[in-house]
Amino acid sequence: MTSAAGLFVSFEGGDGAGKSTQARLLAERLRAQGREVVLTREPGGTALGQTLRDAVLHGEHVDARTEALLYATDRAHHVASLVRPALERGAVVVTDRYLDSSVAYQGTGRELGADEVENLSLWATRGLLPALTVLLDLDPDVGRARLTSAPDRLESEGDDFHRRTRLAFLDRATADPDRWLVLDATRPADALAAVIGDRVEELLAAAGEQSAGDVVEQGTAVPSAGESAVSS
Ligand code: TYD
Repeated sequence: MTSAAGLFVSFEGGDGAGKSTQARLLAERLRAQGREVVLTREPGGTALGQTLRDAVLHGEHVDARTEALLYATDRAHHVASLVRPALERGAVVVTDRYLDSSVAYQGTGRELGADEVENLSLWATRGLLPALTVLLDLDPDVGRARLTSAPDRLESEGDDFHRRTRLAFLDRATADPDRWLVLDATRPADALAAVIGDRVEELLAAAGEQSAGDVVEQGTAVPSAGESAVSS
């Protein structure tokens, strides 16, 4: 672990919660300070990922396990080819969805089992977890009303599915409060952006202080195989 390790931040939540907007606003704030920010998303953060995204969201019907594996494949390649290299050179990586989406949608929504699906993604990513995960929590009915494009395969699922995924995100956040920042997505976008930006700057400052003292930083360092980027 070196002081050059970057910071990994993910945004999670239901459709229409404003994740993409908040991810972009965070990237803009940090770039204005001269930091390198890699703004990305799952599925589809790489060229292969874009092909997988089209297949899983708009392609022929696939069963739940195939769906889970397609998301995990996208994640494995995304982490290996984009996220880890960026973290290793000290960038802030901001991703619109990550592993917790698979746990909520495939593990709980599709009822494949949260632990199994989490373990699949941990294997795929060699254990990489974000230092901070921002949950933009929203009633699925409100989220649905905010959508402007035709619904994809997941968005087309029923109310019960979306209620389950919302609760799954909230349960995971409750179980690991150090990693999660839960925010009410109905708050104004600029207010949300301020809270998120402040939290990320705190983490960056803490990382800077620790690396100045040549201490291994928990939550920002790039883990090796089998470790997570959060304290354990
Ligand atoms: P997203 O890109 O957030 O949707 P959009 O930009 O079209 O609003 O995510 C696409 C869908 O993929 C979303 O409905 C959630 C789903 N999803 C999973 O089911 N599992 C996953 O692991 C990920 C990353 C996304």
